[in-house]
Amino acid sequence: MTITIDSYQADLEKDWLKCRLISFFETDYYDDVIIEKPHYDGKSVELVALDDNRVVGLLDAEMNEDEGVTYCDLHCIAVLPQFQGQGVGKLLFDKLMEETKKHGVKRIEVWTRENENANNWYLRQGFKQFMEYWHVWSESLPSDEVPELPASLRLKGAFWHYLGDNPETLNIKVYDKRRCRGYELLL
Ligand SMILES: CC(C)(COP(=O)(O)OP(=O)(O)OC[C@H]1O[C@@H](n2cnc3c(N)ncnc32)[C@H](O)[C@@H]1OP(=O)(O)O)[C@@H](O)C(=O)NCCC(=O)NCCS
Repeated sequence: MTITIDSYQADLEKDWLKCRLISFFETDYYDDVIIEKPHYDGKSVELVALDDNRVVGLLDAEMNEDEGVTYCDLHCIAVLPQFQGQGVGKLLFDKLMEETKKHGVKRIEVWTRENENANNWYLRQGFKQFMEYWHVWSESLPSDEVPELPASLRLKGAFWHYLGDNPETLNIKVYDKRRCRGYELLL
């Protein structure tokens, strides 16, 4: 296996989307499906890991400013299951670290759901958790108090960001819930 890390090019879009979809399929992000690659207005780092011109890994990150300090949002890192655990994620991340140095980045931020694999991987790269909340899906609104809707609309469910401790105590029919954790790496 010879992996090369390269910049993303538009002609790789279909392959990029497939890599993201398959990499997320067995994780808590299986439902986070996109059909167009995101574009970033600001300075971004968009990398692919190629095995014989096939996209087997990807990384998207964006530089942002907060009170004059440059930080980096690591939007997405994903490696095809059969290529995981072989250092591909690390190659992508090392390249990102090179780029953050060039841009004077002081902090990298990333969010992930419950997968142990991803959570542990961030911790091994030196990230520390700084926040945790829940993604909660419900069949109803509290007490079914549906705001006034056009007659043609029926509420079939709702998605919430819940900052409390126990989604089971919510007055809504929860049908799925996943913890979402924020990690930061201070540079
Ligand atoms: C999280 C994820 C991106 C990590 O990528 P990966 O390629 O599996 O990670 P790596 O192989 O670089 O690192 C995993 C371990 O493999 C081991 N490894 C095996 N062979 C290796 C090699 N040749 N070189 C380096 N590490 C190697 C190391 O022990 C490494 O552990 P370390 O972090 O202590 O160095 C990947 O598992 C993934 O895509 N998961 C699904 C999608 C996802 O959850 N993304 C994040 C959610 S936002």
